[in-house]
Amino acid sequence: MIPGVAVLGSTGSIGTSALKVLARQRDRFRVVALTAFGQKDRLEAQVAAFRPAFVGLVSGAGTDGWRAGRASLVEAVTRPDVDIVLNGIVGAAGLEATLAALAAGKRVALANKETLVMAGELVTRTARERGGEIVPVDSEHSAVLQCVTGRSPAEVQRLILTASGGPFHSWDAERVRHATVDEALNHPTWRMGRKITVDSATLANKALEVIEAHFLFGLPYDRIEAVVHPQSVIHSFVEFVDGSVMAQLGFPNMELPILYALTHPDRVPDDGVTRFDPVAAGPLTFEPVRTEVFPALALGMRAGRTGGSAPAAFNAANEVAVAAFLAGRALFGRIAEVIAVVLEEQIVTDVSSVEAVLEADAWARRRAEELLRCS
Ligand SMILES: NC(=O)c1ccc[n+]([C@@H]2O[C@H](COP(=O)([O-])OP(=O)(O)OC[C@H]3O[C@@H](n4cnc5c(N)ncnc54)[C@H](OP(=O)(O)O)[C@@H]3O)[C@@H](O)[C@H]2O)c1
Repeated sequence: MIPGVAVLGSTGSIGTSALKVLARQRDRFRVVALTAFGQKDRLEAQVAAFRPAFVGLVSGAGTDGWRAGRASLVEAVTRPDVDIVLNGIVGAAGLEATLAALAAGKRVALANKETLVMAGELVTRTARERGGEIVPVDSEHSAVLQCVTGRSPAEVQRLILTASGGPFHSWDAERVRHATVDEALNHPTWRMGRKITVDSATLANKALEVIEAHFLFGLPYDRIEAVVHPQSVIHSFVEFVDGSVMAQLGFPNMELPILYALTHPDRVPDDGVTRFDPVAAGPLTFEPVRTEVFPALALGMRAGRTGGSAPAAFNAANEVAVAAFLAGRALFGRIAEVIAVVLEEQIVTDVSSVEAVLEADAWARRRAEELLRCS
């Protein structure tokens, strides 16, 4: 039986890349469910191309037979004909579907890193207890997974996640503080959705990824590091206990990690991938992260170490501040400032239930909005 795939967020950057991969792999996977938030026309075109059994449009009923509302996400992922859920939703809105899919024992190919950041313990426990499986789509975590597959966790010493450094990696602090939306969206190596592109510019994305790596691979925070690698060719390094270091390479393109998340631990031929050429890749360089210019990274890593509700608050404050920046309501530099105040004021609680996670998320959103109104 060909495994059925539900693609959540099919109209986004990850979703459309996933559908390109799935179009080339029709004899290995069939698309049985597609969901989007509001891009009805794009979703209609995808439905015409893939003829899925289930279609969900969260923001409202689209067409006869389509499901609407947030409940459509849970409905999509718990269908008996769905074996793999590719979660390409952006932000905290993806949490419920991830949890429902894992509770139903499905493989979740997870691009929606915010899920693991806000509720890492709950999500990993749900997977463990209910037979679900989380396979990362993020290129850095896919790289780590590809390096550690077949090894015992005790053999892994350290992870070094690479970061492009974003569009401002060589700018001074004052210029970064006043960066415009167009400048922040002009990512040097990756074409992605708007929210993650801003997260890459603040380096909040790398903090989210460090927390994601902590939950995925079970390593303490003092063994997960980040390094700036402007070419985005090496997707991460894994150091083993004997000092040997492995890395995974490829031109920046999400189609490979998406395919690997579907097939892990197997590999299948893909004639759509751009073959690697070390000469064309050119010199590969590395720089330390300038934490003084990009405070969001240190703030997020501190929230990760604090644990409890701190990562959820970090994520929520970041989502609100990024939305305000994109809407022209806040300076770029305000994003990290708002996160800092929210984390400072937060009373950290235990977040072992979904209600506790959502409460921490809601409090941080409210506080971030208040702070943005005052600025
Ligand atoms: N893009 C990348 O290369 C990349 C790489 C690594 C990780 N990721 C992660 O992958 C996730 C998606 O990123 P992206 O760049 O693909 O974002 P994106 O282009 O903005 O796409 C987001 C998708 O989620 C849907 N969506 C938005 N709000 C929703 C809601 N409230 N409920 C249900 N669906 C909703 C959107 O639907 P509409 O289009 O209808 O609004 C769209 O299909 C993020 O967590 C990001 O950090 C992305």
